[in-house]
Parts: sequence; structure tokens; C-alpha cells
Amino acid sequence: MRVLAILNQKGGVGKTTTAVNLGAALVARGRRVLLVDADPQGNLTDHLGVDPARIEESLYDVLLEGVPARQAVVSTATAGLDVLPSHADLAAAEQELAPELGRELRLRRALLGLGPDAYDWVLLDCPPSLGLLSLNAMAAAGAVLITLQTEYFALRGLGQLDQIVRMVREHVNPALGLLGILPTLVNPVTNLAREVIDEVRTHYGEVVFATRIRQNVRLAEAPGHQTHIFAYDPACPGAADYRALAEEVLARAAQVPDLVPEAPPAPPPAARLRFERVPRTPLPDLVAEAVPEGPPGTLPGAPPAR
Ligand SMILES: Nc1ncnc2c1ncn2[C@@H]1O[C@H](COP(=O)(O)OP(=O)(O)OP(=O)(O)O)[C@@H](O)[C@H]1O
Ligand SMILES: [Mg+2]
Repeated sequence: MRVLAILNQKGGVGKTTTAVNLGAALVARGRRVLLVDADPQGNLTDHLGVDPARIEESLYDVLLEGVPARQAVVSTATAGLDVLPSHADLAAAEQELAPELGRELRLRRALLGLGPDAYDWVLLDCPPSLGLLSLNAMAAAGAVLITLQTEYFALRGLGQLDQIVRMVREHVNPALGLLGILPTLVNPVTNLAREVIDEVRTHYGEVVFATRIRQNVRLAEAPGHQTHIFAYDPACPGAADYRALAEEVLARAAQVPDLVPEAPPAPPPAARLRFERVPRTPLPDLVAEAVPEGPPGTLPGAPPAR
């Protein structure tokens, strides 16, 4: 089971649209897919027409009440495409999780509880922030897919994201990779998108997907019809773009390690160092070495008399 977090701290950059339509494109390629709505806004849950009346348990209950993920999962109109829904309660999850032990590993443990073969792919739709919900997603994922709206300041947030992914890899999830950066909402008419993509490629090279998701009003209309693009308008450019993305993601699948239970990560080197140093050096020796004796009659370490 490969877990992919769809991430960007900016709002409105195509994360949810990508989770839904990449998920549906993977199902069309014969994969079993679970979409996890990790955003309290619940856009993914609404997008796929999951009736709030049908939601007895949501991601909130999974993360905070210990409800098994399987119990909260609902099916969609597309066979093979399931949703772990969000609920407005999830807005409180960041504060409620803060004092809890292992707070960043809750989602990872919940997904492990599904068993290794429940799904081929799990796509995590993150909120537009880098709080505990996004951290839970990065701790559970084998890789991150960053959606990048091709606008002028696109590169600014990217450096911070790159740094956060590195920190999570170092301290929480050593297996976390960066699967790719996906240009979204690309306006094919202007030069701006091309210039932005060229600049991102200069910095990140082949990590940038060859697929670009063009602006296409059909993609924006599909949520109003409570379905994905392949059920709404399979012949539109948006459907073609997400089909191409699914091909590219499958070609890079080996970069997304399977979710497996692991031993907790080793403590950071700084903590180990301090622990090793303190008990070994007896204090009196340290003082004798560090502070040279002054002439008779002065205190050890006192400055020489002028
Ligand atoms: N390629 C596209 N063409 C046209 N409209 C798009 C496209 N991609 C996304 N949209 C629309 O842009 C808006 C923002 O997209 P989306 O909800 O996927 O972004 P998001 O990153 O998930 O936002 P948030 O951070 O608020 O969750 C939505 O109204 C969506 O329908
Ligand atoms: Mg969203």
C-alpha cells in the first residue's frame, strides 16, 4: 500500500482537485484507491458527494477517539474509490492532538490498521497549512506530491516546503520522498506559466512532472456535480491531464515505498551526544583542565595583575 501526501501550505492551488482526479484516474487503471480528507474544510468529502448524513465517523474519530480507519471509510459511486471523510470537528483536532503522546503518528497507525493490502494507493488531501494534520500526513506517507500554481511568486513557498519535508525525513519519517512537483492551473495562453515552470525546473530539475494540469472549467464544475472528471466529462482537457498524471505517477511508483510498521526513529544526534558526554567526564578534572592556575595568592582563573 503506497501512501502519497498531496501537499502545499498555500490555499487554492489544486490539492483537492488533484487528490480526487488522480485517485479516479488510478482507479481507471485498475488500482484500488482510498482518498483521505485531512482538511477540516471537507472539500474532498463534498466533491465526491459523500452525504454528511452518511458520515457516522470521520477522520476526527480515527485520530482522536481511536476508531479504526476501516469503520470510518465510505464507498463512492465509483467502485474501487473509497473516502475517509472529514468533518467540521477536525478543525479542533490540531489543538486537541497537541498535548498527546505520538501525536504526529496517529494517521500512520490508523492506516497501518487497514492492513497492507487494503488498497494499492492512499492519497492524503492536506489542508492549506503546515500544522499537525499536514505533519500526520507526512509521517504516514512514503512520498509527497506538491501542487504548484503557476503564478509569479510560486517559488517562494516552495523553499519552505522543501525544508519541512527534509526536517520530517530527519526526525519523524526517514522513508519520506518527494515524488514530484505538479504545475496546476496552468494558463496555456500566456507565457507566465511557461516562465514559472522553467524557473522551477532550473531549481528542481526532473522532480517537476512533465504533466501540467491546464486551467479547465470542467474541473471546477465537477465538484458541483459531486463527482470526478471522468464521470463528468471524460473527453475534456482536464480529464486528459489527470490521465497523463496517473501514467507518470505509476511510472514513478517505485519511489513511493510501501507503508510498513517500523521501529521508532533513532533520537537526533544532538540528544545522543549530550547523553554520552555528561556521565563520562568527572567535574573536578574538567575544572582543573579548563582553568589555568594563576600565580600564588590569586584565585584560579583570575586575570593576571597589571
Ligand atoms: N485545473 C483547474 N482548472 C480550473 N479550475 C481549477 C483547476 N484546479 C482547481 N480548480 C478550482 O480551483 C479552486 C481551488 O482548487 P482546489 O480546491 O483543488 O485547491 P486546494 O489547494 O485544495 O485548496 P485548499 O487549500 O483551500 O484546500 C477550486 O474551485 C477548483 O475547482
Ligand atoms: Mg483542498
